[in-house]
Amino acid sequence: MKERTYQLRCIGCGARIAGEAVRSDFRCVDCNDLFEVEYAWSEGAPGDGSTKNLPNANALKWLWQERRSSTLAVDQSGVWRFRDLLPILENSDHAVTLHEGNTPLYDLPRCAKVAGLNSLFAKHQGMNPTGSFKDTGMTAALSVAVERGFEWVACASTGNTSAAMAAYAARAGLRSVVFIPEGKIAWGKLSQSMDYGALTIQLKTDFDGCVDLLTELVKRFPIYLLNSVNPYRLEGQKTPAFEMLEQMDWQVPEHVIVPGGNLANSSALGKGFLELQHLGMISRVPKISIIQAEGANPLYRWFIDSNRIMRPVKAETRATAIRIGNPASWRKAAKIIERMDGWCEQVSEQEIALAKAEIGAEGVGCEPASAVTFAGLKKLVRLGKLKREDRTVLLLTGHTLKDSEYTIQYHRGELLRPDEIAQATPAELRQHAALSKPPMVMEANLDAVMRVLEAKMKLSQPV
Ligand code: F0G
Repeated sequence: MKERTYQLRCIGCGARIAGEAVRSDFRCVDCNDLFEVEYAWSEGAPGDGSTKNLPNANALKWLWQERRSSTLAVDQSGVWRFRDLLPILENSDHAVTLHEGNTPLYDLPRCAKVAGLNSLFAKHQGMNPTGSFKDTGMTAALSVAVERGFEWVACASTGNTSAAMAAYAARAGLRSVVFIPEGKIAWGKLSQSMDYGALTIQLKTDFDGCVDLLTELVKRFPIYLLNSVNPYRLEGQKTPAFEMLEQMDWQVPEHVIVPGGNLANSSALGKGFLELQHLGMISRVPKISIIQAEGANPLYRWFIDSNRIMRPVKAETRATAIRIGNPASWRKAAKIIERMDGWCEQVSEQEIALAKAEIGAEGVGCEPASAVTFAGLKKLVRLGKLKREDRTVLLLTGHTLKDSEYTIQYHRGELLRPDEIAQATPAELRQHAALSKPPMVMEANLDAVMRVLEAKMKLSQPV
């Protein structure tokens, strides 16, 4: 029999089980908490320190770069080229890949200036095959589903998970069913799950209601759950931490800022950084801070509560990707904030809209849920949590085209209500005015077009 390369460890009671032994809802039978994947070399594992089968740090760094020039799909994947640190498949040839990962790290000089930092970077996970960070997790967990022989996979989603799952299931020839809250996800995302052939069910409830229904369904139906309670998802989602370090020449940034919804991604990145530190590949880890929308802020409330109690909320925000009131992975996120010395902030709808327009104006763009990172960063700088020279990376989770309706409404001045605009400071109002670019409708008349352009040119001349 093949030697086991990993086991699952409950983050609540510490129970360890074999991967195949986990319940269909991925919760611990003893304490109902979630699992994480543990390897022989993981910190605190029974075989801690055993780096048998693992090349040394320098060899790994070289190997990961070298694989990029290979013609094998698993080597080209920005997830599987790091497979030495996620040996979750019996055979890496089983990996279902769309060449995910290898996403760009952009610098955002104008946003840095606005925030009062010397430099600012964006790791753009929206540049993945289906336009969001979910692809890195989906390639991992869906490949496990294939090895386990499942025919059906399912998820509840605010849109991006469903798009990713539908695509990877289609690649693997599996059937997929998505549960999404009716009327509460962006059209771009809904269209993807249909395009990739999923059975798309819009439930008349919110995301949290979709999760509840699916959790019961997987207990009664042989269907593989691909929500982020599935710990293999997080093994894929930890790899952007590795890439980010490669892209920064292994100089660890001071701060990484992540949006928080169901609260799995922040902990996945944290796991990635901590593993590299444990293996001696980096000497320290960045702080990880999590930003939530004001209307969907259960972790923020936990963070400011002196008793640190988590209470679900009824979620409401235009950043529909993170419209989540009862986040499944909140304990994992809480642990990461505490372990990695991070903060949690909340940002208003007005602040999200402004931050998104500012990222767009750098030619980068992202979806609203990603823009909370920049809105939150500005707050953290004002609060003195970040220093001017801190090298900071925003994790942009979704592509701007995921929710083009939001962008169009913003630029047409139709997004924010008067009471939301009233919360803006005079400086923010000036920024909105400068950033807003409503489309113009004109007769096809050359003189008229030239008059408009001349007026615009005068406006942009220095005074
Ligand atoms: N950003 C985007 C664009 C997302 O789609 C999500 C989550 C998050 C951030 C939050 O990440 O849940 O790990 O804290 N979207 C899930 C979905 C819930 O169904 O697509 P998280």
